Amino acid sequence: MPTKNQPIRRQPGWLDNAIFYEIYPQSFCDSNGDGIGDFEGIISKLDYIKELGCNAIWMNPCFESPFGDAGYDVSDYCKAAPRYGTNEDLKRLFGEVHKRDMHILLDLVPGHTSVEHKWFKESMKAEKNEFTDRYIWTDSVWEEPVGYGSLRGISDRDGSCAVNFFTHQPALNYGYYKPDRPWQQSIDSPGAIATREALKDIMRFWLGMGCDGFRVDMAGSLVKQDEDSKGTIALWQNIREFLDEEFPDAAMVSEWGEPDKSLQGGFHMDFLLHFGPSHYNDLFRCEEPFFSDRGKGDISEFVAKYKENYEKSERKGLICIPSGNHDMDRLARSIHDDNLKIAFAFLLSMPGAPFIYYGDEIGMRYVEGLTSVEGGFSRTGSRSPMQWDDTTNAGFSSAPKESLYIKLDESKDRPTAKAQMADESSLRSEIKRLIEIRQSHPALMNKGEIEFVYAEKGAYPLAYLRSSGDEKILVILNPADRETDFECDYALGEEVYSFGGKVQKQGKKIAVPAKTAAFIEV
Ligand code: GLC
Ligand code: CA
Repeated sequence: MPTKNQPIRRQPGWLDNAIFYEIYPQSFCDSNGDGIGDFEGIISKLDYIKELGCNAIWMNPCFESPFGDAGYDVSDYCKAAPRYGTNEDLKRLFGEVHKRDMHILLDLVPGHTSVEHKWFKESMKAEKNEFTDRYIWTDSVWEEPVGYGSLRGISDRDGSCAVNFFTHQPALNYGYYKPDRPWQQSIDSPGAIATREALKDIMRFWLGMGCDGFRVDMAGSLVKQDEDSKGTIALWQNIREFLDEEFPDAAMVSEWGEPDKSLQGGFHMDFLLHFGPSHYNDLFRCEEPFFSDRGKGDISEFVAKYKENYEKSERKGLICIPSGNHDMDRLARSIHDDNLKIAFAFLLSMPGAPFIYYGDEIGMRYVEGLTSVEGGFSRTGSRSPMQWDDTTNAGFSSAPKESLYIKLDESKDRPTAKAQMADESSLRSEIKRLIEIRQSHPALMNKGEIEFVYAEKGAYPLAYLRSSGDEKILVILNPADRETDFECDYALGEEVYSFGGKVQKQGKKIAVPAKTAAFIEV
């Protein structure tokens, strides 16, 4: 029987202290002045990421695509999009990452392709061929797949093709868990198995070239009519067997949002996200977020769900709470100033691997009022160019302003990486300190245990105990603009981190000043 602290499944060792940085390649750094970021630009900023303390990267899709959904509409899974560079350049990026003792995950989009993918073009044909069953098609154009949008009347094939997200993203066929129409194929039908094997080939291709694993897009939605996700879990278990055999060090993180399922499917990590049952939005993105200084938030439902996931997942893997990502509003849209620092004190003291969305480390803002770019719509404002310094285009690109991929934040006081690196009291400097502290205390690291000490409905502060072996650290977070207190039995020892005021204990009562974060040995 596995015991506490001992994962049931072997995990790549580097995940024990991995801290990820998410790069949206379009907007990170443009090396050749065409207005869009590229691999060479990313290579030139690896030292910046490392200096912050991050030792791993997740890069959004960088494959050939018509970019109707910023690259989540792939037209060739095994070819880098020319706007970022060649496959050789990408391979060089892997090498540069490894030289710095870092790791990199690519973004795998297994659920759908672009309508321009050659598989789809073949699949649209009326004559049967190798790709007829690669996507989910009904057997008459007059019938649409229940529960999904569809593409119909677009070719001679008599049928409607299910779509997963936008209508230009046809759904690949991994089968139905409980087929009840003649055109619905089972999960072990030849068509569904062929799709799964094609997915393995794509993974082989990039892992063989040196990438360290994948962030998997919409990982929980592959098998259809799969109420308890049993079919999708079985599919990922099959992929896990393949990885264990051929690429045991490859790391897998899912965009799923239900760790009890994804970790059972063999993922090492799962994200809590702005959708699904996790109450993630209660933290930073709702009318009264817990981390706002108004102090009107409620952490209790988030904590209840977190505990449930933590117990159910039996430490099979890591539950990851990202600072944000390319799909949600920037953290700095609703959380400001000192509260951003306290939010990061939370993100960098919770178990699981932390993920920092590019620019969140300097408090980059959501750019209001932008016209959609490449299927971004309201997400576009969170995807604006990285602000490096105060040179042309904030150091992102030498292109004329009009040809930047997305407009920059034009505000005069926009934050930049350069200014924040030079300022000890900046958000970035605070994050760098927090990372150093996390990495020097096993209790605070990815696999340290957590026990909630104080997380009451509508109340502040939040307190939890992190532990590993004999090391025990009490984390106390009070984002509210007023002093709060709670009771606990622990005798307070040395303070390993503090921001804001001084936490005081009298009897059982611990008083926590307004806008304060403290990590204290107990
Ligand atoms: C995921 C991606 C998002 C994309 C969608 C469809 O949610 O993060 O950006 O639009 O899947 O692939
Ligand atoms: Ca470029």
